[in-house]
Amino acid sequence: MELEIRNFKKSFNENTIWTNLCTTMKSGEIISIHGKSGEGKTTFLRCLNGLEPLEKGQVFFDGEEVDLTTMGGDERPFGMVFQGFNLFPQMTVWENIVLAPKYHKQKEEEIQERALALLDQLELTEHKNKKPHQLSGGQKQRVAIARACMLQPKVLCFDEPTSALDEETSERFVSILKDLSRTGMIQIIVTHDKPFALEVSDRILHIREGVFFEDK
Ligand SMILES: Nc1ncnc2c1ncn2[C@@H]1O[C@H](COP(=O)(O)OP(=O)(O)O)[C@@H](O)[C@H]1O
Ligand SMILES: [Mg+2]
Repeated sequence: MELEIRNFKKSFNENTIWTNLCTTMKSGEIISIHGKSGEGKTTFLRCLNGLEPLEKGQVFFDGEEVDLTTMGGDERPFGMVFQGFNLFPQMTVWENIVLAPKYHKQKEEEIQERALALLDQLELTEHKNKKPHQLSGGQKQRVAIARACMLQPKVLCFDEPTSALDEETSERFVSILKDLSRTGMIQIIVTHDKPFALEVSDRILHIREGVFFEDK
């Protein structure tokens, strides 16, 4: 599978954030977007996930265009793990992860099966009835990953994933990313954490003067 980002442009009113982002990503690749605050990294992820409209640009999977404004829920091409995770505080771990697939009317047995497998894989089974405030930072992050994976995205995006993790949890996170990469998922990681980006990524992109450039 190949993802192509073509000619992305975005402005907020008069403020142009980037003018021509282009890149291609392959199955299983882990790509970091590294750089200073304000370069438009979060906005890039939000546009990919249909949370923010693009001014210009196209997305292709294996040469076939995807419309970011009408992406379906059943097999969403993009998933997002937010900075701060954005878990629903009043819901348990289990409720957090089954909510979106239920909303998209997926089959109950399939939802259960996938949720149980993800809880097991991410070592969350014993926490499934807890609420977010009863979890550590690393556990919350794993719930956010499980929740995003429930809709089986082809591309999983992470916004500043290490900012809430201590060093030990961060190592465990690296091994989760590598496991996901073996399933063929593309992972895009926005980070200001250079050592982490160097350790985990196949490639590192920067946004300079409105375009991507690569240094690894
Ligand atoms: N909803 C918005 N409305 C107006 N300006 C925004 C909005 N979101 C982000 N921006 C501006 O876009 C620029 C890039 O922001 P962001 O994507 O958050 O950068 P980064 O994640 O690289 O720090 C910043 O100047 C920010 O103030
Ligand atoms: Mg940001």
